[in-house]
Amino acid sequence: MQSDQKKPLPGGGPAAARPIRSVPADKNDVSTKPGAQKFLQLAEKNEALQEVQNSILSAISNLIECRNNIADNHVERIERFLALLMNEMLRRGVYRDVLGTWDIKLFLQSARLHDVGKIGVRDSILMKDGPLTQEEFAEMKKHTTFGEMIIEKIQRHARESVFLTHAKIIAGTHHERWDGSGYPRGIAGSSIPLQGRLMAIVDVYDALTSERPYKRAFPPDRAVQIIKTGSGIQFDPALIDSFTGASEWFHK
Ligand SMILES: [Fe+2]
Ligand SMILES: [Fe+2]
Repeated sequence: MQSDQKKPLPGGGPAAARPIRSVPADKNDVSTKPGAQKFLQLAEKNEALQEVQNSILSAISNLIECRNNIADNHVERIERFLALLMNEMLRRGVYRDVLGTWDIKLFLQSARLHDVGKIGVRDSILMKDGPLTQEEFAEMKKHTTFGEMIIEKIQRHARESVFLTHAKIIAGTHHERWDGSGYPRGIAGSSIPLQGRLMAIVDVYDALTSERPYKRAFPPDRAVQIIKTGSGIQFDPALIDSFTGASEWFHK
């Protein structure tokens, strides 16, 4: 017990408040500690690699969207909308317990690959100007499971990566609907991973507010109304208020 009392208090106690004058400032500088320079160099290299990874991801995802007649920075907008939506959710405390366990930056980057499976869909379907036939739509739906397969293959050759885990979940679940009528698995409610529920909202919102060869763009307020109408049917009702709040910043 005696020895316990001599232990410093959590946070340092009164002794910690005393200025330590005898220690030169550079000894407190982590960059002068052995191995620190190497660590900083590695961190820089890592950051550079991340930049390269991001550029490649953007290029791949924009190429996919091009083949789908969507050549207007869809993936960059999706990333921005998601960031604003998640910021609003954190502010309101919506799913904070889940978001708190995510690396938000990695999640946002992984969202760029949501339609990577379209690589496996025929040009005649992807590039069709008009609405798809039932058969063609059935083919198009496969881009979700193709996406999962593609990312799974990358996972086999890469080290375990949070980025790829998010990417696979998003690719496989972003067309599921809250009421269970979505695809590819028809899962419902909270069985749909939050990644997919988030992507479903922003993906539909961007499709509504974008012009396509076969349709005109809806104004943002009309698109928000349509998303609200889908609350509890297509979209997670717990996300709608955060989405509505965040949408005010989407086009600023
Ligand atoms: Fe999709
Ligand atoms: Fe999309």
